[in-house]
Amino acid sequence: MLNLVLFGPPGAGKGTQSEKLIEKYQLIHLSTGDILRGELKAETTLGAEAKKFMDKGELVPDEVVIGMIGNKLKENTDAKGFVFDGFPRTNAQAEALDLLLTKHQTSITAMLALDVEYDELVSRLLNRGKDSGRVDDQDISIIENRVKVYNQETKPVMDFYLAQNKYYAVEGMGTVEQIFDRLSKQIDAL
Ligand code: AP5
Ligand code: MG
Repeated sequence: MLNLVLFGPPGAGKGTQSEKLIEKYQLIHLSTGDILRGELKAETTLGAEAKKFMDKGELVPDEVVIGMIGNKLKENTDAKGFVFDGFPRTNAQAEALDLLLTKHQTSITAMLALDVEYDELVSRLLNRGKDSGRVDDQDISIIENRVKVYNQETKPVMDFYLAQNKYYAVEGMGTVEQIFDRLSKQIDAL
C-alpha cells in the first residue's frame, strides 16, 4: 500500500494536492477537516461539538478525530492506499494512526510536508474566505490562531516521522502544477 501523510500549515495546499494525488495514484483521500465539515453540514451532534473548536481555529479533541479515521479505515479495507490530509495533527494522533495501520497490516510510507511562507498562507486563506463560507477563513485573527496552533501543536509531529526516516520536505510555493510535479517526483523516488 502507498500511505501518505500530506502535511503543512493551514492553506499550504494539502486539500488541493490531495485531489490530484488520489487521482494519479488511485488512493483514498482522508481529510479530517472535510469529514468534520460534513458532520457540521449534516447537523450531527458530533458536528455541533466540533464547530465550537473549528470556528476558533482550535483543534477538535484527539479521540473524536482518531475515531473518525478508524471508521474510515474499516470502510476501505480493499484500498490501494490513503492520503491523510490534516491528520495526524498531534503526537497522540500520530501514535494512534500507527496502531490503527498495524491492525490493518500496513504502515505510513512517507510524510510529505509542504513548505509555504506565512504571507502566502494568509493571502490564500483570506482569498478563499470570500466565498468558502468557512468561518475560520473569514477573519485574520482566526487565521493567525490556526497558524499558531499549527506551530505549537502540529509542527512537532514531523519529529515523529523524522525518527522513522519517513519525513520529506517539499517546496510548497509556486503554481499548483509545479507543486504537484515536486510531490509526484518525491513519491516516485520512494
Ligand atoms: P482543515 O480543514 O484541515 O484546515 P487547515 O489545515 O487549517 O487548512 P486548509 O484545509 O484550509 O488548507 P489546505 O492545506 O488544505 O489548503 P487548500 O488546498 O485548501 O481543518 C479545519 C479545522 O478542523 C481545524 O482548525 C480543526 O478545528 C479541525 N480539525 C481538522 N483536522 C483535525 C485533526 N486531525 N485534529 C483536530 N482538529 C482537526 O488551499 C487553500 C487555498 O489556497 C484554496 O483556496 C486553494 O485553491 C488555494 N491554493 C492551493 N494551492 C495554491 C497555489 N499553489 N497557489 C495559489 N493558491 C493555492
Ligand atoms: Mg484542507
